[in-house]
Amino acid sequence: MIHLTKRQFLAGGITVAGTAAPVPALARMPARPKIVTYRDPNCGCCHKWVERAQSAGFAVEVRQVPDIMAVKAKLGVPESVASCHTSVVGGYLVEGHVPLTAVKKLLATKPKGISGIAVPGMPRGSPGMEMPDGSRDTFEVIAFTRQGSKGRFSA
Ligand code: CU
Ligand code: CU
Repeated sequence: MIHLTKRQFLAGGITVAGTAAPVPALARMPARPKIVTYRDPNCGCCHKWVERAQSAGFAVEVRQVPDIMAVKAKLGVPESVASCHTSVVGGYLVEGHVPLTAVKKLLATKPKGISGIAVPGMPRGSPGMEMPDGSRDTFEVIAFTRQGSKGRFSA
């Protein structure tokens, strides 16, 4: 009798149940990473950031919520870094009008010890906050935990 380890047994089970050989988890990573974005239906800028995210190759699921502050509190966005919409991607929080290059770097580097990244407030000139007259505020992408800012996220 052939003695199988538990792992071999499970792998065999998958092969029998499926049609092809089991695919390693990494190979099944989606080509379009999924973002869930929570937004207040009455806010006028969130959808512009969502469009920017879609153009950058993300699959965005928008969830309109009546109390966005309650969602931020529940998810763990500290008030000190709060903006309008709150997104969840790859297990991280992405707060506000964060440049999509920074989101991609977050997913590629998977930094430990932070909950997410934020562009606090609604700075003019950030993605989705472009002004008709081209005016811009200087802004930084901030790494944060539930407790507050952890300083600049270098993107
Ligand atoms: Cu906004
Ligand atoms: Cu908004």
